[in-house]
Amino acid sequence: MKTPQDVVHFILDNKTKTPHHPQATAFAPSNIALCKYWGKRNTQLNLPNNTSLSISLGHKGATASITPRPATSHAIIVNDQTMDPNTEPAQRLSAYLDLFRFHQHAAYTLTLTVNIPFAAGLASSACTFAAIIKSIDALFHWQLPPTDLSILARLGSGSAARSILSGFVEWTRGTQADGMDSVACALPEQWPSLCIGLSVVDHQPKKISSRDGMQRTVDTSPLYAAWPQTADTALTQIKTAIQAHDFHALGKAAESNALAMHATMLSAWPPLLYSTPETLTLMQRIWALREAGMPIYFTQDAGPNLKLLFLASAQADVQAAFPTLDILQPFATRSSPHE
Ligand code: DP6
Repeated sequence: MKTPQDVVHFILDNKTKTPHHPQATAFAPSNIALCKYWGKRNTQLNLPNNTSLSISLGHKGATASITPRPATSHAIIVNDQTMDPNTEPAQRLSAYLDLFRFHQHAAYTLTLTVNIPFAAGLASSACTFAAIIKSIDALFHWQLPPTDLSILARLGSGSAARSILSGFVEWTRGTQADGMDSVACALPEQWPSLCIGLSVVDHQPKKISSRDGMQRTVDTSPLYAAWPQTADTALTQIKTAIQAHDFHALGKAAESNALAMHATMLSAWPPLLYSTPETLTLMQRIWALREAGMPIYFTQDAGPNLKLLFLASAQADVQAAFPTLDILQPFATRSSPHE
């Protein structure tokens, strides 16, 4: 079993291929990795070289509505705009929908509503592919368990595996060639006072996708060999910090893991630098504020924008230092934000 089609057939073996509803809708949250996924052991199945761990962004994410369409091609609408089928993002979404086409004239109309700014580099593929597979699962009334949904979401984008669940989510590397053991699971811990600040230093779309960037790093970086072990160490530190609600240990391990990933990318060839001068200025500002006693850390994905980590007790000071920051409390909807 090696191709995405094989994985889909295996998981849906005994499941109905006839829609149960005329239409279905599902939401999936965006997620930010505290321990990053960077590099694949299988590029077709998006199987990672290391286990990663994320925090989901509560109500920020994607809502997907799916309707069967008796046609040969899909129609995709994102935030009220019909996508040009010739663009790369439309083709990637179409190829994913094709995995769930069971008859020649059974295409879909996919309507996506994404409530995080595209420009912030946060409207990653993660919440999109997770919302799509959840809506397809609802359309056919398969009621797949989250582990199976995470496997199917991963076929669209690796980080989408983690957007199937909420809160702290761990996506296991797994060792099987078919990836059936590379699944996402939610951690039992909640941390209501944990805040995420989204800072936008650059509105330009990134020039090199995560997909291409991680492959280039795997292929050419002399530092990449150390990455899986570096990530495993960070994973243990982060999980221990979450269990103990030790904010400084969490922040340090997450920031250090992001910087190690970016250092590894920088040593790829051609070099891969997602930071801009504004990113570096912001980093230095955060380090100076921390030096002065403000409990604040950051993480960074494959783009120039930083995601700030702090506790609700520091929110007023952080907001004063960064007035344009978009602040989220991923767990706050379920408990008091000041716990
Ligand atoms: C830096 O999940 O977008 O955000 O599997 O090729 O679709 P593909 O890559 P993707 O990569 C995300 C990389 C990251 C780190 C992370 O989210 O863990």
